[in-house]
This record gives sequence, C-alpha cells and structure tokens, in this order.
Amino acid sequence: MNILGIESSCDDTSASVLTEDGIKSNIIASQSIHVKFGGVVPELASRAHQTTITQTVEQAIDEANISLDEIDAIAVTQGPGLMGSLLVGLCFAKGLALSKNIPLVGVNHMDAHIYANFIDSNPQFPFVSLTVSGGHTQLVHIKSPFDHEVLGKTRDDAAGEAFDKIGKIFGLPYPAGPLMDKLSKDGDVSFHKFPQALANEGLDFSFSGLKTSALYFAQDKDDEWIKENLNDLCASVSEAITEILIKKLRRAVKKTGVKTIALAGGVSANSMLRTKAEQLAEQMGLSLHIPKLSYCTDNAAMIAITGKMKAELGEFDDLAMKPFASI
Ligand code: KG4
Ligand code: ZN
Repeated sequence: MNILGIESSCDDTSASVLTEDGIKSNIIASQSIHVKFGGVVPELASRAHQTTITQTVEQAIDEANISLDEIDAIAVTQGPGLMGSLLVGLCFAKGLALSKNIPLVGVNHMDAHIYANFIDSNPQFPFVSLTVSGGHTQLVHIKSPFDHEVLGKTRDDAAGEAFDKIGKIFGLPYPAGPLMDKLSKDGDVSFHKFPQALANEGLDFSFSGLKTSALYFAQDKDDEWIKENLNDLCASVSEAITEILIKKLRRAVKKTGVKTIALAGGVSANSMLRTKAEQLAEQMGLSLHIPKLSYCTDNAAMIAITGKMKAELGEFDDLAMKPFASI
C-alpha cells in the first residue's frame, strides 16, 4: 500500500510518501515568520501553509519517485491543532482525493506522534507512551492499535511550552526547546534547583509553577548575568522538566505493568530526556522506543504510518470529515 501523508496542524507544512519499502520522502517546510513574534501566530501560519502546501506535496511525490496514480490512500492530520492550519491541509487532501478518486484517512496528530515509533521499529503492545510536544504532555497506555487510555496529562502548560516560555525569559528565540537542549550540554544541572510540581502525586503534570519560578529567579538578574550563566540555567531547567517526566513515566510503568515504553512528540528529541529514558529502561528491564530525531518533531511521515495502520483496519473517512482543534 502506498500512502501520501499530509501534516499542517501548527507551523510546519509537511508531506511524506510511505511505500511497502518504508518512508520514501518526508518534506518539511518550517515557517520562520513566527520567530520575530516569539510564538506561532495562527493567521500567519495558515497563510504560510497555503503558500507552501502544493510545492511540499509535489516535492514529496517527486522525491519518492512515484506518481499520484500509484497512491492508494491520503492520510491527513484532522486534529488537534490550529483550526486555520488544519483546514489548509484537510481541504488540500480532500481536493486531491476527490480529483484522483483516492480514499482518505483522517489522522489524530497525537496518535501519529506515538505511532511514529513504528516507522523504524516495532513496539510490542501493550506499551506506555510519554507524549511530550509543544501543545500536549500525556502518559498514554496503548493497549492495542488505537485502543488508548490517557493515564495522566498536564493541568496547564505542556513540557515543550515550558521549554519555549522559560527559554524566552532567558532571552532565547522561539522555539527555545532545541536551543535549551544544546546549551544544557555545557551546563551544570545542580546550579539551581527548580521545582518539580506534583512529584509525589499521581500521573498528572504541571509546568506553570516552574515557569513562574524561572521568571522570579531571572527578574532581579541583569542580562549580562543571565548570559554568563545561560548554560547552567538551561541545564537546571532541563533537569527539572526531564526529571519529573521520567518520575511519572516510571510510576505509569509500575501502575500498568507494561514491559515496553515509548517517547513521542517534539520534546522526545531532547537529549537529556532520551538519556534518562534509556537509564530508566535499563533499571526496569524495559524495551524502549524513541523515534529518530526527524520523526520526533512535526512531520508527515508519522501521519503516513498512522494512516497506513488505520487503512489496514479499514478505517477510512469521507469528504465530510471535519477538523478538530482540541482533543
Ligand atoms: O511535536 P512538536 O513538533 O509540535 C507540537 O505538536 O507541539 O513539538 C514542538 C515542541 C516545541 O515546544 C519545541 O521547543 C520542543 O518541541 N522541542 C524540544 C526539542 N526539540 C523540539 N524541546 C526540548 N529539547 C529539544 N531538543
Ligand atoms: Zn506535534
């Protein structure tokens, strides 16, 4: 089965082709326009998707060395995400499906982050996924394909949002997550102890207190001091975020008794989190799956693989399929 995947839920326009031989292309057009605003501006995002979607899909088809007539299904992100952004991908996919008479598969973006783990690997069910992105932070018990139970989630900010907003406090450009990761590598994690909320309580997360704590901490320091101590500050914040994520993942494993864990979403690109997850897996004798870096942040390859898994179960959608902004 050959699948064309299309993703446009936030600020990346992406298209990918998946064949029986695996992912043949995964084109990602990232929008730089948001940098100067320090965050994604929804109206600008949807306009940028409109400008780039046709060439992104064409490029994915060309690079895969396939023709549209050989595509068996179009998988497209249905939600959650920004409504205007989702509409661009969905309308494009519907137009293509209608003109070429190709079946459509609507894909949940959060599911796709999890199933990105099946691109290069084959996690055994049941498993627990720590899904950490810019918009969501969840512990999900994946009992069998598409049979999910959310065990815990953030009560306020997502982990990626915490990286981005605290990075902004330290003067880093949007998105600060990858930069915080890079700077942390030369920093001291014990420079300052930032709070880990709900540490002894259940499987929910909360990152707004950490953000406030970083804001108060930075408030009476001048820019020069922040610059001089940036590596240590980033390392200390990364430590607080990744420690609490791993603590809760450990608790979820104990609660469910699973033998397999997975990381998913943009924050799973974080090197400190990846290392801590490897240590956890070793300590608890678990099988660990983490997508390769280009499949962690938003991409259409994860939409294509999830679309394929749904298509194999006969789960297709029609042209009346509607986007949804939140889960
Ligand atoms: O999954 P994703 O690409 O988009 C959403 O669905 O939200 O995640 C984007 C988030 C951003 O908050 C970004 O700062 C964060 O993932 N991120 C990272 C790293 N790479 C991306 N956070 C920490 N370390 C990284 N290496
Ligand atoms: Zn995402």
